[in-house]
Amino acid sequence: VTAQTVLGLVEPQSSGLGGGAFTLFYDANKQSLKSYDGRETAPLLSSEQLFMSDETTPMQFFDAVVGGKSVGTPGTVKLLWEMHKEHGVLPWKELLKPAIELAKKGFEVSPRLAASVARDQNRLKLDEDTAAYFLPKGRPIKEGDNLKNPIYAQTLTQLAKHGGDYFYNSDISKAIVDKVVSSSKKGLLSQADFNAYKVIERDPVCSPFYNYNVCGMGPPSSGAIAVGQILGILEHQGVHTLDSESPATWQVIAEASRLAFADREQYLADPDFISIPKGLLEDIYLKSRSQEITPSKMNTHISFGFPKGSKLNTQQAGNSPEQESTSHFVIVDKEGNIISMTSTIENSFGSRLMVKGFLLNNELTDFSFLPEKGGKLVSNRVEPGKRPRSSMAPTIVFETIGSAEKPILALGSPGGSRIINFVAHSLVRTLAWKQELQAAFDSPHIINRFGRMEIEQNTDAVNWQNFYEELSYTTVLQDINSGLHGVYFSEIGMQGAADKRREGISLGK
Ligand code: GLY
Repeated sequence: VTAQTVLGLVEPQSSGLGGGAFTLFYDANKQSLKSYDGRETAPLLSSEQLFMSDETTPMQFFDAVVGGKSVGTPGTVKLLWEMHKEHGVLPWKELLKPAIELAKKGFEVSPRLAASVARDQNRLKLDEDTAAYFLPKGRPIKEGDNLKNPIYAQTLTQLAKHGGDYFYNSDISKAIVDKVVSSSKKGLLSQADFNAYKVIERDPVCSPFYNYNVCGMGPPSSGAIAVGQILGILEHQGVHTLDSESPATWQVIAEASRLAFADREQYLADPDFISIPKGLLEDIYLKSRSQEITPSKMNTHISFGFPKGSKLNTQQAGNSPEQESTSHFVIVDKEGNIISMTSTIENSFGSRLMVKGFLLNNELTDFSFLPEKGGKLVSNRVEPGKRPRSSMAPTIVFETIGSAEKPILALGSPGGSRIINFVAHSLVRTLAWKQELQAAFDSPHIINRFGRMEIEQNTDAVNWQNFYEELSYTTVLQDINSGLHGVYFSEIGMQGAADKRREGISLGK
């Protein structure tokens, strides 16, 4: 609760009260794992045409993002509140104090926040509350400035006094609805959405990888299923025997990712609205998918597969471009309880609408804009009350020792749909290649999401570009901005690691 409310202040562009989140919670005493879905919902008044300019033309991405149309019912506050009621030890109001005090006293604007504001000025200008906070007197806040957010402090003080449910039926929900419906891109949220909002406890999705059990968040996130598919396919490729620093190895990993992303587009969306094939993580299926990979050859015929339970008559792949905002953190307490939480307002600064000291999400643009393709309905189309598909992949890994399992690693990352690769690659490095967690996070990214071969620029991996071009992949050198955070449980104690590409840290006491 404290980490999230402070992040909502100091990293407001990425996550906060106006967004949604997924959490994995491991209870050390009960040795049980739970996953909680605090994903935003589409307004009850919305329709599958939400992001269509006309019958056949989807809106331009940023036209859809900026303004009220993209705002889903926020889930993060309810998630924190429900988890606190179930598992919390310290009083709720104590947990909000650090963020309240920091918001009143002011915090130092970080380089990343300052750069993000400078880059996004033209969009941040469009809402007067957003502009007043990030562009006071028309000038962007700067690195090192002391920034106070007294309105956020007031909002948190109300939540401290009345509890998390207050957010959903009060001047806060009213202010959100008023902002969304009065925005130039009028949105469809209403108080009925807040009344209906529920945090859903779902079964974690776990898949084996060597002698580990890798557990994560199931649909509406595609995270755990796609990560599990990549790992399962790679185990069939004997990834533990491959050279971790060879372009040929990363071509095999890229092919596994292409296969997983093809299935993801076809099959994954909110499970309360579509039926998801049961066989996506079955070993027999992953073995057959692995046989579609030929080392040092690009498979030009990749498509989704046919796992047990797949029905083709109603579903179709869409196009839902998740963006790179988001935060991830892992916390382990002295009893060994673990939280792995990924939290987001979607795009950097979300919908750019600010209410009561926090930004509102644009999570609804994680839906497919097109409701149908080739006469078939898209699985991840907008529907009233539905949760947009995510890629967030908060993960906890257990080592299997005989019939027992003990936690060995917890991690996750921001990064839109690249989250899947960031997490899967870190797991290959640590679990199959036995690399240290920090070294795994520091390694260059080579990513293929069933599209171009993305190679992280300013790393040694740029030397592999020709190798991939010669195999007919289209390549691109670019910044690949992961924000991995994790804790590894080693023989000698816990090792924390944080991605140097962003501003996270690991701390222990
Ligand atoms: N909005 C990013 C994600 O949910 O994956």
